Amino acid sequence: MYEVYVRSFADGGGDGEGDLRGVRSRLAYLRDLGVDALWLTPFYPSPLADGGYDVADHTGVDPRFGTLDDFDALVADAHAHGLRVIIDIVPNHTSDRHRWFREALAAPIGDPARERYVFRPGRRNPDGRMEGPPNDWPSMFGGSAWERLPDGQWYLHLYAREQPDLNWRDPGVRRAFEDVLRFWLDRGVDGFRIDVAAGLFKDPAFADVGADARTALHGRIYSRPEVHGVYRDWRRILESYDGDRMAVGEVWTDSPDELARFLRPDELHQAFQFDLQLAPWSAPAFRDVIQAAVAAVEPTGAAPTWVLSSHDMPRHVTRYERPPGVPGIGTARARAALLMLLALPGSAYLYQGEELGLPEVEDLPDEVRQDPISRRTGGKRPGRDGCRVPIPWSGAKEPYGFAPDGTRPWLPMPPDWASLTVEAQDGDPASMLSFYRSALALRRELAPSLPEEIEWPDDPSDASVVFRRGRLTCALNCSDNPVRLPPGEVVLASAACYGDLLPGNTSAWLVTDAPS
Ligand code: NOJ
Repeated sequence: MYEVYVRSFADGGGDGEGDLRGVRSRLAYLRDLGVDALWLTPFYPSPLADGGYDVADHTGVDPRFGTLDDFDALVADAHAHGLRVIIDIVPNHTSDRHRWFREALAAPIGDPARERYVFRPGRRNPDGRMEGPPNDWPSMFGGSAWERLPDGQWYLHLYAREQPDLNWRDPGVRRAFEDVLRFWLDRGVDGFRIDVAAGLFKDPAFADVGADARTALHGRIYSRPEVHGVYRDWRRILESYDGDRMAVGEVWTDSPDELARFLRPDELHQAFQFDLQLAPWSAPAFRDVIQAAVAAVEPTGAAPTWVLSSHDMPRHVTRYERPPGVPGIGTARARAALLMLLALPGSAYLYQGEELGLPEVEDLPDEVRQDPISRRTGGKRPGRDGCRVPIPWSGAKEPYGFAPDGTRPWLPMPPDWASLTVEAQDGDPASMLSFYRSALALRRELAPSLPEEIEWPDDPSDASVVFRRGRLTCALNCSDNPVRLPPGEVVLASAACYGDLLPGNTSAWLVTDAPS
């Protein structure tokens, strides 16, 4: 699965922002890369207070991203290229410009129009004076999760102020989202990525979380039992359509059991498992994460999911560069990590630009940053703009073929990206792009004959991760020194191997003809 962050992928309209036409114009590139499916991030009408995760109309296309006709043409062309398409659905909150929220604000306190959101009176002092928000819940983006209205009511927003949380106890909200799913399924989408999937229902007591906000808040807003009924209904809707329609949840959980509950056979098909993305560059850490992730989904029969980068996290080339060491080590490690990712059973989710080895852009000036995290924390957290810089396609300077020459991209692109463009890497056998293509092609060839089960050696080493699936062995050396290669013929390696040695920060796939 390839995540397309639409605003940053390709600009087909010449306004410096990516759009659906841009994606459509690059489908051959994606097919040739060797991915099976695309996940499109939100392209709905939105003021973009949170990059489109503030949806003002769930069944439209924002004019800056195109039209419904562009969407239909994109899906038809993607299918013709053999690519499936899933889209983001954002049920936890809407934009504050959504018709429902505007109606709620225009309505008096207690009016049914306010039932679609979470409005509460503020908390008063014992002497009756208004003191502040209804409880101490923090927003994920910094500051309080409550915003006060002039009439004295407060509304809940777990994310930005412009993203009021919906009240999923309101039957109208539930029905409306079912219609939204049908609207897009009727247009041919193959499924949905569900944003904040565990968070729809909140503890009706709205009790304070106290000092231990993260853990306590988790229990109050995530994985409340009521949420599972929603996904059972959604699963029935998906199954009422022809073909294989699927749902993958963005589910942050505290325990494997909690995750597994979302993956019961009548709920979601997949859930993101983020621990690989959070793990440091360390063989024992990777091994632990893989074993835990596989064990978590094992009782459910669902496929495990693997992610190294996304639009929410610093890019892994840069993460693996830390602590700063040898220049280029992040790129070497990112190549090496890919073979681990693609040798695992289940679904690998790639994020646009990782196939080019793009680093995080860390030096964006404050005035161009758009992520509400940077604003809401007064710059203390830089936010996620650094992994959302547009894709460099060609040429030697901004906008690197992302947009027509002379167009200024919505985020500035670094002056030293000429060697990272698709054009520069295409045809260079040593490039990251060529390596991704080779690895994806070989995975496609090998995967059907591989068992799902992973076999681990009895004597795990601290230096390297080695595992086997049938005839394929994957070895990733996380140390700086060479280690001995396991048995088999090297069919792909992230860097040259000498004799029977696997160099430091390198990985290899080895094939044995007769698995012992
Ligand atoms: C998760 C999305 O991936 C992220 O980009 C967004 O800010 C939050 N959910 C809130 O919608």
